[in-house]
Amino acid sequence: MGPICLRKANIQDVPAIHGLLMQNSQLGLLLPRSYSDLYSHLRDFFVLDVSNEKAILGCCALSITWKNLAEIRSLVVATSLERQGWGRRLVETSLSEALTLGIYRVFTLTYQINFFAKNGFEEVGKENLPQKVWAECLHCPKYPDCCDEVAMIHHL
Ligand SMILES: CC(C)(COP(=O)(O)OP(=O)(O)OC[C@H]1O[C@@H](n2cnc3c(N)ncnc32)[C@H](O)[C@@H]1OP(=O)(O)O)[C@@H](O)C(=O)NCCC(=O)NCCS
Repeated sequence: MGPICLRKANIQDVPAIHGLLMQNSQLGLLLPRSYSDLYSHLRDFFVLDVSNEKAILGCCALSITWKNLAEIRSLVVATSLERQGWGRRLVETSLSEALTLGIYRVFTLTYQINFFAKNGFEEVGKENLPQKVWAECLHCPKYPDCCDEVAMIHHL
């Protein structure tokens, strides 16, 4: 595998991001996102670009939610790159972008509690997040009675 570059996403990355999210959503690990949604929110994304691979092998989005609050969404590291620190680097880069934007609270809704705990996040009651957070949930088949994702927050 060639050198790996963590960079902002560009428009050519969208099909690969869509593919990564579809694969992981089929495993029940995160929510899929439509092409329309990805094009609209492309500027949220960082990707892992491996120089001699045709497609990117990881992605992570920082989505602004509200005053002083952003969300880490759509985090995936391809199986071939797992457990080599790339997930952490994607999260750290997204947190750094939050700081640059003047946002000091970043949350996520996740099943990967241990991973996020190792990256400075702590569990928080969902009722402590603004109602706007749950707008996305309306489209989830697990909403409202079967939601098993854990809300976690990082104070920067
Ligand atoms: C979760 C995920 C992003 C982690 O990426 P990664 O590149 O393998 O993680 P890293 O190598 O950066 O790991 C950082 C730390 O977290 C730990 N870690 C990683 N995945 C873990 C897991 N599933 N459970 C417990 N600890 C985990 C690592 O051991 C490492 O700990 P250390 O610092 O003590 O060595 C990746 O496994 C993935 O894409 N999973 C499928 C999609 C998914 O669940 N995304 C999250 C949606 S919110």
